[in-house]
Amino acid sequence: MNDFPAFAFSTVAHIVSELGATRKLGELVRARFPSAQRVLLVTDPGFLKTGLVQAPADSLAAAGFHVKIYSDVVADPPEAVVLAAVAAARGHASDVVIGLGGGSSMDVAKLIAVLAGSEQPLSAIYGIGNVQGQRLPLVQIPTTAGTGSEVTNIAIVTTGETTKMGVVAPQLYADLAILDAELTTGLPPMVTAATGIDAMVHAIEAYTSRHKKNPLSDMLARQALGLLSRNLIPACENGGNLAARQAMLLGAMLAGQAFSNAPVAAVHALAYPIGGIFHVPHGLSNSLVLPHVMRFNAPAAAPLYAELAAIVVPHAEGSVEARSEALIVAMQQIAIISGIERSLQQVGIAESDLDRLADDAMLQTRLLGNNPRDVSRADARAIYAAAL
Ligand SMILES: NC(=O)c1ccc[n+]([C@@H]2O[C@H](COP(=O)([O-])OP(=O)(O)OC[C@H]3O[C@@H](n4cnc5c(N)ncnc54)[C@H](O)[C@@H]3O)[C@@H](O)[C@H]2O)c1
Ligand SMILES: [Fe+2]
Repeated sequence: MNDFPAFAFSTVAHIVSELGATRKLGELVRARFPSAQRVLLVTDPGFLKTGLVQAPADSLAAAGFHVKIYSDVVADPPEAVVLAAVAAARGHASDVVIGLGGGSSMDVAKLIAVLAGSEQPLSAIYGIGNVQGQRLPLVQIPTTAGTGSEVTNIAIVTTGETTKMGVVAPQLYADLAILDAELTTGLPPMVTAATGIDAMVHAIEAYTSRHKKNPLSDMLARQALGLLSRNLIPACENGGNLAARQAMLLGAMLAGQAFSNAPVAAVHALAYPIGGIFHVPHGLSNSLVLPHVMRFNAPAAAPLYAELAAIVVPHAEGSVEARSEALIVAMQQIAIISGIERSLQQVGIAESDLDRLADDAMLQTRLLGNNPRDVSRADARAIYAAAL
């Protein structure tokens, strides 16, 4: 076995992690795009209501940009929302797109940047590597510490009633990502917990990914998990704890870099149908199935889980299996302490729904192929039953 397998690694070229950085957003964007004039700030009504859009927007205006705030993104954006946003960018003749929000706003910003100046329809770019040509300049500013979308090459769209599809392409890497905890202090505790657990899942699944796991993604996943596990509960308990908030943003970003190169697996595959059919937020869907997928994976992944246990629960001792189980319990405890839902029944799912969930999960072949252990339909149903 080759100890140094070949690998490739890509990420966003410029990252600014600085408290208060978005108050000088205009300068940061001007420095990178000297001749740009018209900025589209892409967000959603929930974030708009916080009033935190104002300072970055004012800073852009002060730097000479014409700013349009587009705030019609909805969570888990459906195709119609993406298409309306693209039309708004064309109408505004935007020459810079800035995603300012959670994964939903940042994913829509990516698709605007790709589609606004292109002839390609949205339907033609689903899948891997199907985006043609260049995109508009793109800046990403996360306001949840979760998806890591600011540094990933992925955008997720809700297609039809219940299914989600991904666009994966190198053009989706932004030009600049900015991490500023001042934007995240108002994030409610439950959303902080669910999005933070999503970020932890990114790190865990990247570290155990079957195909593209590599020394860089491993290093990032480990660093991410340390930051996230130490700061998630403090950020939930005191939303104004800026140090914990900045650490969460950094952890989520590092986890995003990891899973953008060593992709996520069965936790996400089983979470997507929960979000798609029952409209459960992405992070919570992941959290609900996480311990049950990990227990299923343990026969194959215990040695790697034990390595991660050394970061999350450093006092855990015993066999590889015992330390692997300690990591799983630690993840359950984070969910318990934060008070988020812990069973499928709590989010309105019944035993009679499990067959449909299992059928839908099996369609996520891209993700299931990365899982450290093969997942059959019967396995998927049994995992959902354990999570019920
Ligand atoms: N592109 C990727 O790499 C990637 C990875 C994982 C998930 N996703 C996608 O990202 C989406 C989920 O993103 P998310 O979990 O960040 O949630 P989100 O963007 O859907 O936002 C969730 C809610 O939080 C509110 N909110 C956001 N920031 C806030 C703040 N600072 N203060 C107060 N309220 C705030 C929003 O208004 C919204 O109501 C899903 O569509 C998911 O499929 C993308
Ligand atoms: Fe995720």
